Amino acid sequence: MDYCLLHKKLLHNLFESNTAFDLHIPFHGFQHELVRELKLKSVEILLELPRAVLSVAVNERPIWSQDWWPACQLKSCVSDTAINLEKQTIDFLKSQKNFGVYHQIEVNKISDRIHKKIKSLDVKRIKYQENHPFNFKFYAWTMISDYLIFCEKTNQRFPLGWHEFNEDKTTPPNRAYLKLWELFSVYNFAPTNKPEALEIGASPGGWSWVLSHFCSVVHTIDRAPLDQKLNSIQNIRHKIGDAFKLNSKDYDQCSWFYSDIICTPEKMYETVCFWLENSAIQNFVCTIKFKGDCDFEILKKFQQIPDSKIIHLYQNKNEVTWIKTVGIKM
Ligand SMILES: C[S@@+](CC[C@H](N)C(=O)[O-])C[C@H]1O[C@@H](n2cnc3c(N)ncnc32)[C@H](O)[C@@H]1O
Repeated sequence: MDYCLLHKKLLHNLFESNTAFDLHIPFHGFQHELVRELKLKSVEILLELPRAVLSVAVNERPIWSQDWWPACQLKSCVSDTAINLEKQTIDFLKSQKNFGVYHQIEVNKISDRIHKKIKSLDVKRIKYQENHPFNFKFYAWTMISDYLIFCEKTNQRFPLGWHEFNEDKTTPPNRAYLKLWELFSVYNFAPTNKPEALEIGASPGGWSWVLSHFCSVVHTIDRAPLDQKLNSIQNIRHKIGDAFKLNSKDYDQCSWFYSDIICTPEKMYETVCFWLENSAIQNFVCTIKFKGDCDFEILKKFQQIPDSKIIHLYQNKNEVTWIKTVGIKM
């Protein structure tokens, strides 16, 4: 059967059965990981579309879901004419008290026209600031064939979980700083009270540059030097060496541990366990990098560490971010 017809049929069945469902927007290029994750958790997938996955209700945002629309409503806009269909949908969307955010799943002339006629909140680049105050209320919608999918309140604070920033293209030595900008600005996960931090695998220094604004001292280790741009930053203390052969006693003033080091997920887990057992550090931000598919088995081990959570940042590539702090709320 033609794909469009199949989608229409599946949506019709969903509509008729009145099943509660959620919509997930996968991270760009990682739809297959989202599908694998849902299947591994035995979450029934109801419909897989090019830029969205419909599943039965879940109780938390999957790691590979850029945005999660819980408790979606499905409205059949089947009508005698296309004009009526459009009018019904516009009336419904206009009756909402908030602005709407549109997620385009397929080329759909009707939804394109509707989008132009209603008040919408567009995705906008984020101006970096710690704990960004954005808290605008909005609904989200999309259309597949002549079915409207509507979500009154999406999971992510920013529309569609689209976390692009107004970038600083001159000061930091690379774009890795955007991962910490996202964590500090969108997820409010910046260290407070100017702690000392240890950062392994720090070169060329994008993260170190961000951390230098929040920490009294940033102890950085890498086999390579930091970029010369960072030479004038007084509170970064760089050491050249093997980050896996450190003596924890040399860093007993540190309360935060940062790692964006290139290593296997197993090595990262071993390293985290080492610092948990041999230091008083309680706060961690570590990138877990994959060579191929996401290794959900090793992620389970990280997830079992108390007060920790795994997220895929918008700025992450084929990697996820493991974070831990006492009393974590996210
Ligand atoms: C992705 S880069 C880090 C980028 C950094 N977060 C930034 O913002 O600029 C990974 C770094 O890990 C370092 N690395 C890999 N294995 C290491 C080891 N055993 N000891 C020290 N550094 C290592 C590499 O030299 C590389 O600079």
